Amino acid sequence: MTVVLKLGGSVVTEKETPETVDDEALAAAADAVAASDHDVVVIHGGGSFGHHHAAEYGVSTTEGTHDVAGVQAIHGAMTRLNSRIVTALTERGVPAVPVHPFSAADRGADGTLTLPTGQVRTLLSEGFVPVLHGDLVAHAGEGATVLSGDELVVELAPAVDADRVGVCSTVPGVLDEDGAVIDRIEAFEDAAAALGGSDATDVSGGMAAKVRALLELESPASVFGPDALSAFLDGDAPGTTIEADR
Ligand code: IPE
Repeated sequence: MTVVLKLGGSVVTEKETPETVDDEALAAAADAVAASDHDVVVIHGGGSFGHHHAAEYGVSTTEGTHDVAGVQAIHGAMTRLNSRIVTALTERGVPAVPVHPFSAADRGADGTLTLPTGQVRTLLSEGFVPVLHGDLVAHAGEGATVLSGDELVVELAPAVDADRVGVCSTVPGVLDEDGAVIDRIEAFEDAAAALGGSDATDVSGGMAAKVRALLELESPASVFGPDALSAFLDGDAPGTTIEADR
């Protein structure tokens, strides 16, 4: 069973304090991955490592920078977080290895992402747990822009033929207008009211963009909170299941 797991940046970092890992939360997440016997690809977000540097240099998924100091600050912070996560996993016996998307991916002038995935597939089949992260990406005409962890999920799930996709975030699932977890989403309309309507544009990777992207995948996806990570890896479908009705 192959699982693609995204750990939201706010799950493993203290979002308000720059470059600070939430050690307890990271330990709990690493314990859960260590207890799983699936082939896992881990993708983590930026939290307090990526986002404040990106904001400082005015970089988003569409607005880039040519400032090398900005590139070093943003990419450097993400590699530091990646190293902390890889270390937490290896300390628990997980054969985790870092994969840095900035070294391999690029965006065309129209924003189209090209991400080589051969090394992730080979690492998986050789028994490793590749650990990728939201990063910067070379972007034609823009310099370097942000590559979000959610974009990586969408590219990697089909590339590794994932059986399941998990998005662990700080909320327990996709919430309806009353704040209750929506059990199952089979079409965007199922959650449109809660997510701000089907016209909502969302370039920053909020929940509407996540739901749209996950509906495109062949594999079923779950959006759940940190407390449900072990249950997800054990095969349960906690939080919200997102699977297009085809
Ligand atoms: C952001 O990745 C990466 C950078 C800011 C460089 P994500 O967008 O996936 O991060 P989270 O999960 O929202 O923190």
